[in-house]
Amino acid sequence: MKKQFLLTLCLVLAAPSALATVPRERLSFNSDWRFEKLQATDASDLTAAEPGFDDSQWHRLNLPHDWAIEGPFNTELPNSTGMLPSAGVGWYRKRFDVPVSDRDRRVFLDLDGAMSHAQVWLNGRLLGQWPYGYTSLRFELTPHLRFGAGNVLAVRLDNPPKSSRWYPGGGLYRNVWLVKTAPVHVAHLGVFVTTPKVSPKNASIEVRTTIDNQGSSAVTVSVQQEIFQESQTNRAVAPKELSGVVVAAGGSTESLARLEVTAPKLWDIDSPHLYRVRTTVRGDGKVLDVTETPFGIRRIVIHAQRGLELNGRRVRLNGVCLHHDLGPLGAAINTRAIERQLQLLHEMGCNAIRTAHNPPAPELLDLSDRMGFLVLAEAFDAWRYPARDWVPNDYARHFEEWHERDLRAFVRRDRNHPSIFMWSSGNEIQDQRKPDGVKTAEQLRALFHAEDPTRLVAGGLDDPEVVKNGFYRGFDVIGHNYKPHLYAETRKLAPEWPVFGSETASTVSSRGEYFFPVEQKLGDGADVFQVSSYDLYFPSWATTPDTEFAAQDDNPAVLGEFVWAGIDYLGEPTPFDPTRYLTYNKDPDDRRRIVAATEKKGGFSPSRSSYFGMLDLCGFKKDRFYLYQARWRPELPMAHILPHWTWPDRAGQVTPVYVYTSGDEAELFLNGRSLGRKKRGPHEYRLRWDEVVYEPGELKVLAYKAGRQWAIAVERTAGAAAAVGLHTDRAELRADGQDLAFVTVSIRDGAGRIVPRASQRARFRLEGPGEIVGVDNGDPTRLESFQAKDCRAFNGLCLVIVRTIAGRAGSIVLHAEADGLRPGRVTLRSSRNSL
Ligand code: GAL
Repeated sequence: MKKQFLLTLCLVLAAPSALATVPRERLSFNSDWRFEKLQATDASDLTAAEPGFDDSQWHRLNLPHDWAIEGPFNTELPNSTGMLPSAGVGWYRKRFDVPVSDRDRRVFLDLDGAMSHAQVWLNGRLLGQWPYGYTSLRFELTPHLRFGAGNVLAVRLDNPPKSSRWYPGGGLYRNVWLVKTAPVHVAHLGVFVTTPKVSPKNASIEVRTTIDNQGSSAVTVSVQQEIFQESQTNRAVAPKELSGVVVAAGGSTESLARLEVTAPKLWDIDSPHLYRVRTTVRGDGKVLDVTETPFGIRRIVIHAQRGLELNGRRVRLNGVCLHHDLGPLGAAINTRAIERQLQLLHEMGCNAIRTAHNPPAPELLDLSDRMGFLVLAEAFDAWRYPARDWVPNDYARHFEEWHERDLRAFVRRDRNHPSIFMWSSGNEIQDQRKPDGVKTAEQLRALFHAEDPTRLVAGGLDDPEVVKNGFYRGFDVIGHNYKPHLYAETRKLAPEWPVFGSETASTVSSRGEYFFPVEQKLGDGADVFQVSSYDLYFPSWATTPDTEFAAQDDNPAVLGEFVWAGIDYLGEPTPFDPTRYLTYNKDPDDRRRIVAATEKKGGFSPSRSSYFGMLDLCGFKKDRFYLYQARWRPELPMAHILPHWTWPDRAGQVTPVYVYTSGDEAELFLNGRSLGRKKRGPHEYRLRWDEVVYEPGELKVLAYKAGRQWAIAVERTAGAAAAVGLHTDRAELRADGQDLAFVTVSIRDGAGRIVPRASQRARFRLEGPGEIVGVDNGDPTRLESFQAKDCRAFNGLCLVIVRTIAGRAGSIVLHAEADGLRPGRVTLRSSRNSL
């Protein structure tokens, strides 16, 4: 997997510099930009598009860049967007040259994403604008380019306040590319590969290619298609060449080639084999363009009774919903950071991702293709009506004018990804409750099908009436958000519609926090704005994971679920968002506690990030990770005990113990004494010993499966904090200025055990060719900078993210020290060779 990933990376990096003989170039355009965030009345906002504008005092930086992640947290800003300054206007400017030898070429600027309301000028001329921050955009530069002279590109972005329900980030937060082609070339996103027939013996492949002719006279070209297995150079099948393809001046022509691959290597979640098609356009005896399009050969059937079949095998969606931010790195995309997220989710047994609630970064889809995830790719959080009344400036303002362009751009960009198994036209759209809603749903579905006839369209629907009132008819597949109690009824009322849990659970917890007595009260940890990790707590619309599991088990035709949420994200800190906490809980006692805690702070809540994740904002595992792992990886012998067993203040008090295991039975021992053997009953997904009386020492569980010993887990009482421990996820890095090491810093006792409630502050120092680009501890109330060089441990842990420096190889040593503790360090090696 790693090798394949590197291969693409090399292909991208190896793009040659401007050689007139290379018909197409795609060059990274990330480096050396000037950036400034402006105040509302700043005069520069009127003049910054002008080529001569003096930007010498602006910040100099490389993309991707998220202007808000550096903060500072501002308690006047909404908790829902993380109290970070994502709203406002920002400008990016870049000077660049294009050689005279490119004069006969077409030159394009590709922005993978621009948050938001992008306006782009080249040499003072407005090229265009686009409001939606999650769409990939292309602007043609050619007409206003100065070949052989300096050019100035200026991009203005504007995030209106109250336009997002979560942290959107701000700026040019995804990659930017400069693309050069001949006047006759494969159109932008102009290759569409489908696999209408797939069997183990052979697969028929159809390649539709659109050729644009931006020249001044008609041309006749040939279009050749060659298919390769992803990492191989030998063709998988004889090439197909269509000759005599006529493209009028200023026009486009689509051609279709049919190829057959015998004994295809199927793309599957367990064996994500990829192919690529190389498209070569020739005219006048010359090669005019060459493109490569990765694709996969797989068969997906989504059936109302049989569920989802991948290559003829039933696959249950063990999915999670993911927002796009990367925790301490913000919204600025980094391929390694996404890869790490997916690796952690994979370890949990997750096999599917829902891109809540917008088109994702292309890198997420590339990685999903390579790593074997199914992706439900989602378009919108709002259609004609704002998603909630507190976001009046969201996409609803633009839907009428822009939805068709956004949707077509989204589907065209992503329809070749084998990982995408279904589209979602929207999440909890308010149109569910409006008379024109179903019409809009049908229009959107028709657009999806027009651009991609191979996939079904679903939506994340939360209105309990959607089946009874007929709204579901605007979708091919019904996604229920938090309606496990409706699965059976929906199956009866709409027997031909496949059904799945598009959003489930929304259980909340803070890593390593436990409150006693263990009651089912969301407000138990209100005083400290934390939620207990006994995994029993959820806002009013939600459930425990167990309730959803039971409903899935009782309704085997349901395709599976997408849990809210795989990983904690910035913003939306339910249940401690003061503007909304009263809707979260009907329990008067909880409400009183939450209100009192906020009032004590003068109406303010320090919560900046969500509590929904199975992993916290740093990617550290919460207990819930293991509850899902136990269910999603039944073949993996595992057991997990909670809580930790270091409670000096609880001696003699009842301290319930839960065990999550893929076994079916377990026996718990406290200091060698059995506390009883328990078997999982029907609809039981955790084993509970509710009456355990705390004493320090060793808590051990022996898990069994079908009567045989299956897994062991042990928790031991930790002593006093004595040392700082460092552990890196990878020690060998690439010196490319992008690669990251995620270093876990832990507070340890004299025997090397993590001290579970330790909160010492660690200070970091780095030697060698690297830089600290993020620190955090996963505490949703931490309001210190993600760029600090020190961090308090939260329940024993914090994280340091180290980035390499482009072109500078060598040893990087990260030191961590904390008052009164033995310091720690870890050595990383950054090298120029590919790994
Ligand atoms: C859902 C919504 C998600 C998130 C979640 C939290 O209703 O679709 O975006 O807000 O609630 O539970």
